Amino acid sequence: MLRGNRELWWAVGAGILITGVYGAVVFFSRGIPAAGDLFGHGLGIMGFILMLMTETLYSLRKRSRNASWGKMSSWLQFHIFTGLVGPYMVLLHTSWKFNGLAGAVTLLTIIIVLSGIVGRYIFTRIPRTLDGLEIEGTLSEAALRQARQLMALWHMIHIPIGMALFISAFVHIGAALYYATFLK
Ligand code: HEM
Ligand code: HEM
Repeated sequence: MLRGNRELWWAVGAGILITGVYGAVVFFSRGIPAAGDLFGHGLGIMGFILMLMTETLYSLRKRSRNASWGKMSSWLQFHIFTGLVGPYMVLLHTSWKFNGLAGAVTLLTIIIVLSGIVGRYIFTRIPRTLDGLEIEGTLSEAALRQARQLMALWHMIHIPIGMALFISAFVHIGAALYYATFLK
């Protein structure tokens, strides 16, 4: 399960493309795109949709083991791709200002991405089939038990951070749309 780094390379490619478009907008408009303007807003919305997909799709697939729609390894690769590209777009949306709640949402976003990278490292230490089931592998019994415990602890941290992130993100979106968009 999760062989190679293909999803990371796809994310780097998408990141370069997005940086190019962002750079062009900065160059031609001679300024950082504001979070509430068309381009900055678009980045926020698209990035947030990717983040919502990250939060939901892999978990849905994981909980329907009988489903035949795609291997778990592919869904996890997609999870990692959207989990890197979405937050990057949202970061460019911020216009590099981090006041109040929106700043806290950005911090939670950064924390969940860093925690995802750590989780990926622990996850790939446990030998699995392409469908995510654990199998006998090269790890000794003690090392396997340790990796499983670490993974369980990681889930206990990663999942609540995700929930706090989405609750505060929805408050930010509601408040930003109300005060900065509709009241304008
Ligand atoms: C996790 C996702 C998001 C994060 C981390 C985030 C973060 C931020 C940050 C840091 C700012 C700048 C605040 C400041 O001026 O100090 C901002 C502004 C803004 N955001 Fe977001 N944002 C997210 C998603 C969205 C989405 C999906 C929308 C719209 C549907 C949105 C709408 C806005 C608007 C309109 C502003 C400008 C507010 C103003 O001009 O005062 N954001 N956001
Ligand atoms: C917006 C960012 C992200 C969010 C909201 C997010 C959310 C989640 C959630 C809710 C789960 C639990 C799935 C479940 O057991 O049902 C999960 C698992 C996982 N995520 Fe993320 N994640 C994000 C980014 C990342 C990134 C960037 C990586 C890797 C570089 C990553 C790697 C993983 C791994 C390895 C698992 C464990 C899979 C498993 O135990 O089956 N995540 N993530």
